[in-house]
Amino acid sequence: AQAQAATMGRFAFAPINIATDFTVHVPAGYTWKPLVSWGDALWSDAPAFDKATGGTLAASRRVFGDNTDGIELFNIDGHEVIAVNHEYTEVGTLHPALPDNMPQSLEDVQKTQAVQGVTVMEVAEGPDGWAVVQDSPFNRRIDHTTPMTISGPAAGHDLLKTAMDPDGVTALGTMNNCGAGRTPWGTYLTCEENFNGYFGTTETVAEDATPAGYTPEMLRYGPPVASRYGYELFDARFDLSQNPNEFNKQGYVVEIDPSDPTATPIKRTALGRFKHENAAVVIGRDGKVVVYLGDDERGEFLYKFVSTNSYVPGGDTSTLLDDGILHVAKFEADGSGTWLALTEETTGMSLAEVCIHTRIAASTVGATTMDRPEWVAVNPTAVEAYCALTNNTDRAADATNMGGDVMTPVDGSPNPRAENGYGQIVRWYPANADHADPAFTWDLYVMAGNPDVHAEGPYAGSANVTAGNMFNSPDGMMFDSAGLLWIQTDGDDSNEGEFAGQGNNQMLVGDPATGEIARFMTGPKGGEVTGLCWSSDRRTAFIGIQHPGGSFPDADGAPRSTVIAVSRDDGAIIG
Ligand code: FEO
Ligand code: CA
Ligand code: CA
Ligand code: CA
Repeated sequence: AQAQAATMGRFAFAPINIATDFTVHVPAGYTWKPLVSWGDALWSDAPAFDKATGGTLAASRRVFGDNTDGIELFNIDGHEVIAVNHEYTEVGTLHPALPDNMPQSLEDVQKTQAVQGVTVMEVAEGPDGWAVVQDSPFNRRIDHTTPMTISGPAAGHDLLKTAMDPDGVTALGTMNNCGAGRTPWGTYLTCEENFNGYFGTTETVAEDATPAGYTPEMLRYGPPVASRYGYELFDARFDLSQNPNEFNKQGYVVEIDPSDPTATPIKRTALGRFKHENAAVVIGRDGKVVVYLGDDERGEFLYKFVSTNSYVPGGDTSTLLDDGILHVAKFEADGSGTWLALTEETTGMSLAEVCIHTRIAASTVGATTMDRPEWVAVNPTAVEAYCALTNNTDRAADATNMGGDVMTPVDGSPNPRAENGYGQIVRWYPANADHADPAFTWDLYVMAGNPDVHAEGPYAGSANVTAGNMFNSPDGMMFDSAGLLWIQTDGDDSNEGEFAGQGNNQMLVGDPATGEIARFMTGPKGGEVTGLCWSSDRRTAFIGIQHPGGSFPDADGAPRSTVIAVSRDDGAIIG
């Protein structure tokens, strides 16, 4: 892959080569710098991160958490406030001294719970660049134990009642916070993705058997027998043999007010329960609040919520994300499509059940099974939206996932390859230029591939994929204010075989009008690039580096997930 010598098209940079090293690269004329890494203090009373121990429990509650993901910036009364997700944690770094790096006590579990969730933090630009404002009154950590309210159709349903919460209206914690979103009224939306992995059972279960208490409805969401971090062994809340309904309190989109660190986060059940990637909010023609939502699992679906009431700036927004109808996408081979409403009539389920067992409701109406829907992004300069379908290496034959549907045949669908290691980005155009409209037409913006390995055919990629810009597994996506689409990858960074010439995970920029795509940034080997927001003056882009390899961003020791700040040396805006 050759870097091009000059800027191209609408892109204000010369595209860069692939990289295979353990650092970040940006184009000539741009500079990157770490803003904040896992373990950095949000409050001045927190000690420096101790790589020998992974930090104490007390320290873990006072620092920036692990594995950054979705991120949004809010300007609140002149303060730059970032809300950012912490999807999961690296136990080798968190518990370096423990057997198998796994919790051995409730305190170990609590430390694991403390480094995940969400951070809200003020940042400011000084002579040395951007930094976290320690002890800012905006700073807040939300983790796996933070009290939350449950709102919307599922609130109070029997499936949400537990001994701790007999009314079924509260939850503790938000889990596996992946992508994000923001509302026009200034709140942050954090999206619970692989929440199932935090639950398990202390029942004795025969090998390959299903625990007795795991219902078919639960199994559609894949609860394991043993959780990822051993929570159920020390914290009964995560033991499904004791508290099965705790499982139903996770898997939602949670609304957080970044302006008020005392505000209780709200789980908005009307947006459905599944492995939420992100939440892309746009206002439809009559002021309807439209939220696009992907369910990142092989053979699951793409959703859209449409509010009943209209958004009025300055008006009451407290129930806009509670009252409305969830829809799921059905794509037709002729390039048309329909958002199918998930109602009592169409599903035979109560609205509360639709919001708790959303995957089952979507299967009932015949939605199109997809190649792992990751981020959705809405173009602010044209009435169109995009979803990254990251990859799916098992769409062939009768592949199903977690009791879901047999996957739709590939022909004439937005998922055109039976074995799809590269991924694609689907784009849709709402009918009547209204995101609230139930009809749309669609095409593929890009089909990733490898024209070096495959001379022709679907695995070479679409025409806008070249040896100079190729990538695999699109995931994070955001539009800038100029209407350029920033594409982040989370894929195979072996740089071998099918992926030869693609290097480390990266961030590219696409022009929706021309289809052109150019590589802007490469991340450290081992990591993915996920999460992007801008300073209010748009002169700095904040970009997330998750699970990096090497010692990134430090000189030695274990690597740490990091948000970096990228700026232009001439001080001009980025995007
Ligand atoms: Fe957390 Fe689907 O990415
Ligand atoms: Ca992702
Ligand atoms: Ca991914
Ligand atoms: Ca990830």
